[in-house]
Amino acid sequence: MSAQPPIKRVTIRELGERSRQGGRFTCLTAYDASIARVLDEGGVDVILVGDSLGNVIQGHETTLPVTLDDMVYHTACVARGSRRALIMADMPFMADADAHMGLLSAARLMREGGAHIIKIEGGKLLAETIALLSKRGIPVCAHIGLKPQSVHKIGGYRVQGRDRASMDEILDDAWAVIEAGADMLLLECVTSELAKEIVSAVKVPVIGIGAGPACQGHVLVIYDILGITPEPHPRFCQNFLSEGGSIQGAVSAYVNAVMSGRYPSLEQAYGASE
Ligand code: KIV
Repeated sequence: MSAQPPIKRVTIRELGERSRQGGRFTCLTAYDASIARVLDEGGVDVILVGDSLGNVIQGHETTLPVTLDDMVYHTACVARGSRRALIMADMPFMADADAHMGLLSAARLMREGGAHIIKIEGGKLLAETIALLSKRGIPVCAHIGLKPQSVHKIGGYRVQGRDRASMDEILDDAWAVIEAGADMLLLECVTSELAKEIVSAVKVPVIGIGAGPACQGHVLVIYDILGITPEPHPRFCQNFLSEGGSIQGAVSAYVNAVMSGRYPSLEQAYGASE
């Protein structure tokens, strides 16, 4: 019997190098060990244990009720199912109410959950938290643009960065979090023009969702690619199950579409002039 070669875990450094060389990478959400295993087998680079679990697992209308205990539990489930992907865990609503609390919450997500990088929603306001985590050796992905934890303040899930003033505000957020030490950016629902500006201005890998084709990484919620989330769907959602024929096939179809540049198309993006 021949020994299996050890599986190498995807690293932030590797994604950075790939992005700098013009390559792409894939990200999907997962909340349990079985789906994490399927994503690993499909070659997904980053598994996001998103606080979208509040919507798709717990049935809430927003992500606000998700607790740190929920996030630790689901991150640990995913970590047990995955051997290859980089595991990114979401900081839930107000688990980073101040920088010290953010540090302790991130420590739980890593120590008990097994996360490799923490995603935090927020721009310049969170610079102090990001700087503290970064100094303590905790990798951070800063989630800017549409921030679902601020849905009530925004007044709905709206595309961000439609005019010059709001584009500049999001660009300022990007600079502030990068200066603070963020290792990655995630742009949600911003115009493709703004995403392009940010991707060409910053040196860290940028993951997009509803941000157009310019980002190096692309993420979707697993239930969206499987076509089981109720309508209406935002334009960037795509059912890959019909193309793939099975759950594993849908994941492979998504990976191929992202890596070949077919997903997301410009038609699935938002434009400043709309
Ligand atoms: O919680 C989540 O799944 C997310 C993605 C939608 C980016 O933040």
